[in-house]
Amino acid sequence: MVKEIQEVLPFMSYGGDYNPEQWSEDVWLEDARLMKNAGVNLVSVGIFSWAVLERQEDEFDFGWLDKVMDILHQHGVGVCLATATASTPAWFTKKYPDSVAVDEKGVPYSFGSRQHYSPSSPSYRKGISKLVRKLAERYQNHPALKMWHVNNEYGCHLSECYSEHSLRAFHDWLKEKYKNIEGLNEGWGTNFWSQRYNNWEEIDFPANQVTFYNPGQMLDYKRFMNDKIFELYKIEKAILREITPDIPIFTNFMYQFKPLNYFEWAKEMDLVTWDSYPDPREGIPVSHAFHHDLMRSLKKGQPFFLMEQVSSHVNWRDINLTKKPGVMRLWSYSTIAKSGDGIMFFQWRQGRAGAEKFHGAMIPHSNREDSRVYKEVSQLGNELKKLDSLVGTKIDAKVAIVFDWENWWAVELEGKPHNDLDYLSRVETYYNALYALNIAVDFVQPKDDLSSYEIVIAPMLYIIDEAEAANFETFVKDGGTLVISFFSGIADKNDRIHLGGYPALLRNLLGLYVDEFVPYEHGKEQLFRSNNDTYSCSMWTDMIRLESAEAIACYDSDWIKDTPAVTEHTYGDGKAYYVGTEPESRWVKEFVSQLSANKAVVPPLTVPVNVEVTKRSGNSGEHLIFINHNENDSEIKLGEGNSYTNLLTNEVISQNFSLKGNDVAVLLLSTN
Ligand code: GLA
Ligand code: GLA
Repeated sequence: MVKEIQEVLPFMSYGGDYNPEQWSEDVWLEDARLMKNAGVNLVSVGIFSWAVLERQEDEFDFGWLDKVMDILHQHGVGVCLATATASTPAWFTKKYPDSVAVDEKGVPYSFGSRQHYSPSSPSYRKGISKLVRKLAERYQNHPALKMWHVNNEYGCHLSECYSEHSLRAFHDWLKEKYKNIEGLNEGWGTNFWSQRYNNWEEIDFPANQVTFYNPGQMLDYKRFMNDKIFELYKIEKAILREITPDIPIFTNFMYQFKPLNYFEWAKEMDLVTWDSYPDPREGIPVSHAFHHDLMRSLKKGQPFFLMEQVSSHVNWRDINLTKKPGVMRLWSYSTIAKSGDGIMFFQWRQGRAGAEKFHGAMIPHSNREDSRVYKEVSQLGNELKKLDSLVGTKIDAKVAIVFDWENWWAVELEGKPHNDLDYLSRVETYYNALYALNIAVDFVQPKDDLSSYEIVIAPMLYIIDEAEAANFETFVKDGGTLVISFFSGIADKNDRIHLGGYPALLRNLLGLYVDEFVPYEHGKEQLFRSNNDTYSCSMWTDMIRLESAEAIACYDSDWIKDTPAVTEHTYGDGKAYYVGTEPESRWVKEFVSQLSANKAVVPPLTVPVNVEVTKRSGNSGEHLIFINHNENDSEIKLGEGNSYTNLLTNEVISQNFSLKGNDVAVLLLSTN
C-alpha cells in the first residue's frame, strides 16, 4: 500500500530540482554540504537525464546516479527520483523517427530542445517503459528514495500532435466513444456545411482547415490529446507501483494549463504538485493564490507541494524582474497558507550551459554562501524546520467555485457572440473578491458533491449536462446559495445548444430565461442600480426575462435600462442568483460579502487590507497564518480569550500584535 505523504515526509519539505549530471563529482559533495546548511531535505533528481542513464539502446549507466543517491542520503537529503522520460535522447530520436511529434502542418519536430516526443508513439511508449522499469528495479530499496517524480510538466511545450500514429489513435478513440459513425455525425452536427462522414477513415485532424472548425471535432480532439498524454503518465505509474508499491507517485502540474484536465489527472496522483512563477510585475500574486487553492482542491483538500518556484528571476519573460529581498520568503508562505507542505525550487545550482543558464537558482553562479539569494534560501529552509505541526493540516472552506476544464475548452472555441470572454478571468472576478475578504475557497467540478458548502459560485458555465443541472438543483433545494454568471447553461458536452430557451436546463432553478445576448465593444460600460447605488459593468448583457425570479439589480443606461441585471430566486430551502453581466469589482465584493454574511461564512479573522490570513487545522492543532503584503507594519487584532504561539519566533501572543511589512506569522492556538 502506498504510504501517506506525511508518513514519508513528516516535515515541511524543502529543496529543488537537482541536475548533478551537469556538474563534476567534486561539486556533488559541495552541493550536499550546502544543501544541509540551507535546510534542504528533498531534491528532484534526474528529470532530464535519459541520455546519460541510457547512453545507447540497452546500455545503461547508473554508476553516477548511485553515487549521487548515496551522497544525498548521507547528508540527510531525500530524493524525488525522476523517471527521466521528459526528453528522449538524440540516439533514440534518430533510431525511432516515429517517436517524434508532428506539428499542425504535418512537419515533424527536430531534436535539440526538449519534449519533442509524440504522446501516441509506440516506440516512445516502449522506450519509457524499459527505462522506468530499470530505474525502479535499481533504486527500489535505496533509502534516499522518497517519491517518484514522473516525467516533467506534461504537455508544457507540446500538447498537440498530428502524426500518423496520433491520427490512428484518434480514430480508435472516436470509435470507442461513438461506437458507430452515425453517433459521431449526430454529436458533431455534421449536416452543417456538408461535413458528414461515411466512415472513420474519412476523419482528419481539426488542423489546417480553411475557415471555422467544427466545434464538436475540436472538443473531442482536446479530450483525445488529454487522454493520450495521461496514458503516458499511467504507463509509468503502473510500472512504478508494481515494483515499489509503497512509494508515492506524482507529476508536476503548471499554471493556467488549459490542455490537461487536472481534476481527472489528480485521481491518479498520490500528491498534487505544481510549478509557480509569478511575475513580480503583477504585485500581490492573487492568480497564484487562485492556483494554490485549485491545486489543493484537485484532491479534495489534501495538502499540495510547490514543486518549482524561483529564488530570484526566471529567464523566459521579455524582462525577467527579480524578486526583491524578502519576496521569495513572503510568497513561499502564501503557498503554505493555502496548504502547501513542500517548497521547492527550479533549480538547486544555476546552470553553466544551456538555454536556462540565466534562470535563478538556490546557488547562483558566484557559488558564494554570502550571496543574497543563498542567504535568503538558507534562512527560509532553516525556518521551515519549525513548522512540522503544519504538515497535513487542512483548510475548511464553506465556499466553492465551480471550475471545469471541458467548459474552459468549449467556451473559448471560436465563433461565440463575444470572443474575448476568457474563462479564467470570469472565474477570477469571483475568486479575487473572496481572496480580498480572506474567505476560504475550494474549487469543485459541476458534478461533485456540493453538500459541505454553503455557497457555490459557477462563473460562465457554458456547457452543462442534465446530471450537473440536477446537482445544482439539489444543492439549492437543500438550502445552498448558488451564484451563476452570464452565458451559462448554453450548450451540451458536444457544444450543441440546449433548446428550450437559454439556459434551458437551469431555467427552473433560476426562474428566468435569457432572450438574447448583448456583447459590448472594448471599453464600453453600462450602468446598473443595486442597493441604492450605481455600478458599472462591461463585456456583456444577458437579456433576462423573469419567470419566478426577482430582479435585485437593474440596468440604468442605454436601451437595456430597467431590465434585470441580477436576479434572485428562492428554490426549495435555498437561493439561486443569476448575474447577467460582468460587474465592476466593487459590486462583486459587496455581493459575495453579503451572501457570506447571510450564511454566516466568515474569514478566520478581520485583518487590515493586503494581509492574507488562513486557518489550517488538524490533529496537531489550529494554526493561523498571516502574510503581510504591505510595505508597512499592520496591526493584527486577535480578539479576546485565546492565546497563541508564534512558531517562527516562539513568542506567546494573546491579543494584538504588529506584523512588520512584508513579514509573516504562523500562530498555533494554545489548547489550555
Ligand atoms: C519549468 C520546467 C523546468 C524549468 C523551469 C524554468 O517549470 O519544469 O524544467 O524549465 O520551467 O522556469
Ligand atoms: C456568408 C456565407 C454564409 C454564412 C454567412 C455568415 O454570407 O455565405 O454561408 O457563413 O456568411 O455571416
